[in-house]
Amino acid sequence: MKKNTADNSMDKIISLCKRRGFVFPSSEIYDGFAAVYDFGPYGVELANNIKKEWWKAMTQMRDDIVGLDSAIFMSPKIWEASGHVKGFSDPLTECRKCHARLRLDTLLDEAGIFADEKMTEDEINIIFEANRDKIKCPNCGAADFTPGRKFNLLVQSNLGNFTGDWTKEPTYLRGETCQGIYVNYKNVLDSARVKIPFGIAQIGKAFRNEITARQFIFRTREFEQMEMQYFVKPGDDMTYFDKWKETRWQFYLDLGIDPANLQWHKHENLVFYAKEAYDIEYRFPFGFKEMEGIHARGDYDLTQHSKYSGKELNYLDPATNEKYIPHIVETSAGVGRTFLAVLSEAYQEEELEGETRIVLKLIPKLAPIKIAVFPLLKNKPELVAKAREVFDKLKMDWRCEFDDNGNIGKRYRRQDEIGTPFCLTVDFETLENSEVTVRNRDNMQQERIKISELENFFRSRI
Ligand code: GAP
Repeated sequence: MKKNTADNSMDKIISLCKRRGFVFPSSEIYDGFAAVYDFGPYGVELANNIKKEWWKAMTQMRDDIVGLDSAIFMSPKIWEASGHVKGFSDPLTECRKCHARLRLDTLLDEAGIFADEKMTEDEINIIFEANRDKIKCPNCGAADFTPGRKFNLLVQSNLGNFTGDWTKEPTYLRGETCQGIYVNYKNVLDSARVKIPFGIAQIGKAFRNEITARQFIFRTREFEQMEMQYFVKPGDDMTYFDKWKETRWQFYLDLGIDPANLQWHKHENLVFYAKEAYDIEYRFPFGFKEMEGIHARGDYDLTQHSKYSGKELNYLDPATNEKYIPHIVETSAGVGRTFLAVLSEAYQEEELEGETRIVLKLIPKLAPIKIAVFPLLKNKPELVAKAREVFDKLKMDWRCEFDDNGNIGKRYRRQDEIGTPFCLTVDFETLENSEVTVRNRDNMQQERIKISELENFFRSRI
């Protein structure tokens, strides 16, 4: 069976994530904490592999992009300058019966009425009023709602405030990682040998007080972003915008995503900072939704920060002596959404002699465990010792797992479910001829390989 066809495929992925240690609801023993999730032992490996691929593509493979890791907490003035304190909000309505707080644009959208989170309070309320009879609370079925109002998504904190009412002078957990890039643009310019056009890449946590928490890790209140800001000469924006669109699309194909499950969405109604914006959408089990945004931000951010900080953020072109505020092309992807996309893409169920084999056909680079090493029998010390010896050798180069529990068939099924591309078994023959059985996850074929050949064998396949 191919993925994304069954109505319940999201339930199956959520169940696999819990059962096999990819994703756990946060604070579960305290009945959970809405819209926050933890990555388990295999989840952290998969998320790290996604980040590694992104970081490699953005920094190692290019000579025009450098990395950064800015702090989560920043001066609150940054969020005023960026426009987030005033304008970073979603439309909210409350069901008067069950008091569920809901995103009004989503409610309208799900009833087939066009609405957008970027509409003003008045714009969205006009549409809401005209369609009241069509909207029911998804929680209790009532049709009695408060008028829509804008709800600010920035998460506030009392960091550094030891006196008085901190809510009057809050600090913020960053709502997007790119602001840390803008405020370090001058530092990077002065310390790294970069010349326009150049980029700064960063991976890090962002926080948003999302109104509705649904769809598993798709929309969470704490999440990780992989953002790259590309600084260009004014006027060159669209040339680079188109190049970045192509580059980012290819990135997902390289992660093993079928292009039939990807599409572009052009934003007609733009957020306050953008001049042009496209999303790469993935066909999640609940439909096509945004995975990454590519935005032409013009000189908005650097101009605002220059104005609010009083610092000059011009670039002096060494060739022409021209001075200008660079324009920015941004690529902004979510780790959690990419994680969910590659899992949805890889999840397969196969019928095998009346049994269902669940297998994650992740590309080897993304697989949490690359090689599982098994002694055929747990109670034969000579097999266990040999398998340990092979494991200790391979673990120097690849993330491996040693498993001597249960019968081999069960061990294979477990590794199939976490997407391990190769399982390797040490048996009695190994002790005679130094050969092991290597089983391929995708076609389940087995071959005998000499221990001395294993490194070459895996190097060409992982
Ligand atoms: N700096 C631009 C920016 O933050 P965005 O479209 O708001 O743009 C970019 O977010 C990406 O971050 C999204 O495409 C998505 O992958 C991820 N993202 C945003 N909000 C999220 C949330 N609440 N939960 C999980 N991922 C989120």
